Amino acid sequence: MAQIIGAITTSHIPAIGGAIAKGRQNEPYWQPFFDAYGRVHEWLAKVRPDTAIIIYNDHGLNFFLDKMPTFAVGAAPEYRHADEGWGLPVSRAFAGNPELSWHLIESLVADEFDVTTCQEMLVDHAFTVPMSLLWPGVESWPVKTIPITINTVQHPLPSPKRCFALGQAIGRALDSYESDCKVVIIGTGGLSHQLDGTRAGFINKPFDLMCIEKLVNDPAALTHYAIPELVELAGSQGVELLNLLAARGALTGQVAKVHGNYHVPISNTATGLLVLENRPRAPASRAA
Ligand code: DHB
Ligand code: FE
Repeated sequence: MAQIIGAITTSHIPAIGGAIAKGRQNEPYWQPFFDAYGRVHEWLAKVRPDTAIIIYNDHGLNFFLDKMPTFAVGAAPEYRHADEGWGLPVSRAFAGNPELSWHLIESLVADEFDVTTCQEMLVDHAFTVPMSLLWPGVESWPVKTIPITINTVQHPLPSPKRCFALGQAIGRALDSYESDCKVVIIGTGGLSHQLDGTRAGFINKPFDLMCIEKLVNDPAALTHYAIPELVELAGSQGVELLNLLAARGALTGQVAKVHGNYHVPISNTATGLLVLENRPRAPASRAA
């Protein structure tokens, strides 16, 4: 059976990949950000997932404005990165898990999520930067991967309610998967940021801190926002919160916060790190 060991929410800002490539982790600007990942590495070394489902938004590498699926699921044996123009080194390829991908797709479509299936898929910084943050300096990636993208780029965007429900459907799909595997769900992006327009540089710390708290214990509270409200509160790119909400939705057990960190800014953006452990629920007691 698939075991969902937990979820990690993390920033995916390209500048982080640049700092890793240049070995700047211990410089004063970067140290408080990178230091927060030590606890995540300890947790990963303890729980040892073999598959990572990465929920993120593609920023124009694999999908462009001409064809933009609301939700897409990778079903490839391997995913490659490519030069996106951020000046980052191109990551080595990531192994897929096509058997689990197809199970997810079957289950999601049966659950009325009409996802786009991708048997070829390039993965962008929102996938590669988190992988480098979570498993720094490894010779080969220790997990198989499944990319799941949510459109946070071209309006109309799916609602927070729909993205949370997608996550819950991913959780149900994993619970019904018969082969043994240990899955970590990684939601990337956010928190508040706006990269363009008159509000460029906008960050909303009180809103971010509220979101972090709700992601742990009351994610349904975040499902009531309409997209225009979310843009106003979190910034035009802060809607990447949708990825984190979907990741949280996939946790089907009892959720315990193992680690959290909020750090502003990196580049133009607020960063929110959470490690949420998914503990099995006690079996329902039988009626006498
Ligand atoms: C930045 C943030 C993002 O989410 C992104 O995809 C690219 C850049 C930034 O703050 O620089
Ligand atoms: Fe982004």
